[in-house]
Amino acid sequence: MDKKERSIGIFDSGIGGLTVLHEIHKRLPKEHTIYLGDTARVPYGIRSPETVIRYAFESAQFLTAKNIKVLVIACNSASAVSIDTLRKSFSLPIIGVIEPGAKAAVVATRNRKIGVIGTEATIRSQAYDIAIRREDRSMEVFSHACPLFVPLVEEGWSGTIVELAGEAYLKDISDKGIDTLVLGCTHYPLLKHVISRIVGQNITLIDSAVETAKQLRAVLHELSLAATNEDKSIQEFFVTDSPARFLEVGERFLGSKIHNIKKTALAMEV
Ligand code: DGL
Repeated sequence: MDKKERSIGIFDSGIGGLTVLHEIHKRLPKEHTIYLGDTARVPYGIRSPETVIRYAFESAQFLTAKNIKVLVIACNSASAVSIDTLRKSFSLPIIGVIEPGAKAAVVATRNRKIGVIGTEATIRSQAYDIAIRREDRSMEVFSHACPLFVPLVEEGWSGTIVELAGEAYLKDISDKGIDTLVLGCTHYPLLKHVISRIVGQNITLIDSAVETAKQLRAVLHELSLAATNEDKSIQEFFVTDSPARFLEVGERFLGSKIHNIKKTALAMEV
């Protein structure tokens, strides 16, 4: 098969990466995609770096065995701790969600004060701080973990309870005078309106899912790997636990129907 027509492999701890897949479909409708959600071991955001690296390695192994042309780590917690290991271990191009989000924040800020929110694992790793300062050392970065956002979004909550959690989480970084805020978790794009209301409309929100899809498009063109097929593209889904909940919650994240879903085990699953 022509390399251009091979699939893009995308993995996440569960359903969150479907916000990234949504943005990929929007910008690259000709691409075949294989999405893996490690639903048996979600969430990654509360786990140690060693554990998340091991899980990410197994997901990458599973997808690379499917002859993909590019790998997308569509999970902030996994990107934060595993991208260097995966890039050393696998020889295909690997795109994470952190670098594109960090670059976009540096371009967007006017006062050089950037806020970052994410899971505990992402914030603890300081991966966004490092990536932002790698772009421009004069940037000031203020981070805050918002662990309750993930279950609230999955449960479909959006009213007062989310506002209260948001106010508690976001007060500290809003007070620092940031003009740009990175939504450093796959689930947060679904809370964009609430977050914007709390921090104020004048703060630019950076959606890592959007930036990752743009970076993927750029990489595919740069490497002459963009699909040219005129047939309908194929979307495949794999999960490591029963597909029922993935289907129920996932379609809200993806914004379209999910077909073609299979349960799988990862190589060294314990
Ligand atoms: N996908 C994860 C992330 O973007 C959120 C869910 C989890 O903790 O696994 O960090």
